[in-house]
Parts: sequence; structure tokens; C-alpha cells
Amino acid sequence: MSILTTPAIPQRSAHGCVIPQLGFGTSQLGDCGQLVSTALQLGYRHIDTAWKYGSEKGVGAGIRASGVQRDDIFLVTKVSHEYLATAEFANSVEESLRNLQVDYVDLLHVHWPSVDGVPLAETMAALALAKRRGLTRHIGVANFNIALLDQAIALCPEPLSVLQAEYHPYLNQNNMLAYCQQRGLLFTAYCPLARGRLFEDATLIEIAASHHKTIAQIVLRWLTQQGDIIPIPRSSSPERIAQNLAIFDFQLTPAEMARIHALAKPDGRIANPMGRAPAWD
Ligand SMILES: NC(=O)c1ccc[n+]([C@@H]2O[C@H](COP(=O)([O-])OP(=O)(O)OC[C@H]3O[C@@H](n4cnc5c(N)ncnc54)[C@H](OP(=O)(O)O)[C@@H]3O)[C@@H](O)[C@H]2O)c1
Repeated sequence: MSILTTPAIPQRSAHGCVIPQLGFGTSQLGDCGQLVSTALQLGYRHIDTAWKYGSEKGVGAGIRASGVQRDDIFLVTKVSHEYLATAEFANSVEESLRNLQVDYVDLLHVHWPSVDGVPLAETMAALALAKRRGLTRHIGVANFNIALLDQAIALCPEPLSVLQAEYHPYLNQNNMLAYCQQRGLLFTAYCPLARGRLFEDATLIEIAASHHKTIAQIVLRWLTQQGDIIPIPRSSSPERIAQNLAIFDFQLTPAEMARIHALAKPDGRIANPMGRAPAWD
């Protein structure tokens, strides 16, 4: 597979998985075909979806409408926590491929750890089998904490390439980032813009003004400038979709990076949809 990105988007790699370092998020976008097509035409080459979002059909339609070749797109989907037993897992992956109208995805995640006692070994075997069947090129998990990720790595018959978890300036993820670096995993940052909660932040306003950039661009730059971190911002506005891509033409100083790191709050976490999700580290 060749992943041709616009020269402006760097790539990161882990265990043979090469990913454009900025993706387009599609949760809560409904019928998102037009937006996905716009994102691809603007230069995005990494699209994040999930069975749970109900956006897979729109993502598939957007890919087809964009004129961008399937092989030039890094496509990610996820198996929801209800479907982590062997047969349900396989059915869910096959349904996702039908929704997307593609033969394979580039990265398949377990969306959340099990809340109904499905053994992790069973789920990791099902995930590895999806890869061995060619339904996905690479595999990863989302919303695992360090203890769970450690077990997943040990149990999975195929290497995990990516952890996807919440990360933005209001949430400290230093422990998980260090663990991922130690184990050679990339970190996809979801809710990278904290779903808009940081747009009134005085520190970010000041840094944005000094670079003639928007707060969203400062935050996305802060994430990517850390290294193996891949933000996947969502937007329903073509103008903001384009804006979020324009983050590779400037640099934050070490002092600015540190000031943004210092914004983390103990209650900064946003995503906890089932109320039984594992505590972050
Ligand atoms: N694995 C998981 O469990 C999980 C959980 C959550 C999210 N995700 C993934 O991560 C993606 C991103 O997270 P998210 O959608 O929750 O939140 P997000 O990307 O942090 O924030 C999205 C919000 O930011 C606004 N926004 C985007 N760009 C902007 C800009 N340049 N200026 C001002 N506002 C801007 C959007 O409004 P407009 O639409 O008006 O621009 C939207 O309200 C999701 O779409 C999904 O693909 C994964």
C-alpha cells in the first residue's frame, strides 16, 4: 500500500504501520459523506470512524466521492464493546467493511475494553484473526489504561501498533505516553480540541495571538510537536477542516510547549460514556 499524503502532513510509524500524523474525526457528524470528501480533497489522508458512530456509510460515500484512491487513504474503524466475543467480533468487522464498502481497513481498534466479562485473550485473538484474514492491515486498542494495554500486548498474537485515547491540554497523559513510547506504540489523540472547552483559555489565546494562529491550530501543533502523537480533530465546517490542517508551517518554542503542558487539570477528562470505563493513568 502506498500512503500518499500532501507533503505538508508528516507520517509516523510503528510495527510497520505508517500513519499520516493528522486525521479527520467523524463522531457525531451524522451523514458525513460531503465533509469526508471535502477533508480528503483538502489533503487529509487519515479518516477515523467506528461502527458505534453510525458514520461508516457516510465515510465510505465520502471516500468514493472524493476522487482519492482507496490505497492512498489510511482508514480506521473500531469494534464496539458489545461485540468483543469471537463470533460477534468477526460479524462486526464484516459489517463495518460492508458499511464502508471497502475490502479492508488500515487500522482496526477495540473501541472500549469489555464491560461484560469477555476475556481479553478472546478479544485479542479475534482482533489478530481479523488482521490474519486481511480485513485490516494493522490493529490497536482504544481507551485501555496501562494495566489493560500491558495485558493486551502480552495476549495478542499480532503486534499492536496504536493506542487511541483522549488527549488535549486539559488532560495529563504523561504516564500512558511514556508507556507507549517504551512499547513502540503510536498514540492517537481523540478529543484533541477538548470538544471546544479550551477556546476561552487565556494562555492559549496569548500563544495563538503571538503566532497569528487560532487556538485550535496551537493545540493541534502542541500535540503533533510532541512526536508520536496523532490528533484526529472533528469539524462540521469546511473552513475549520482546512484550518486544522494548517499546523505544519510553524513551531512552538519549548517554553510555549511547557506552558501548554501546565494547563492539565485533575478533572480534565471528557470521555466516560459507559460510566464504567477504566480510570486513566
Ligand atoms: N475512541 C474513542 O472512544 C473516541 C472518543 C471520542 C472521539 N473519538 C474520535 O476523535 C474524534 C475527535 O474528537 P471529538 O469529535 O470528540 O472532539 P474534538 O475534535 O476535540 O472537538 C470537536 C469540536 O471542536 C470544534 N472545532 C473543530 N475544529 C475547530 C476549529 N478550528 N475552531 C473552532 N472549533 C473547532 C467542532 O465544532 P465545528 O463542527 O462547529 O467545527 C466540534 O464542536 C472524533 O470525531 C472521533 O473520530 C474517539
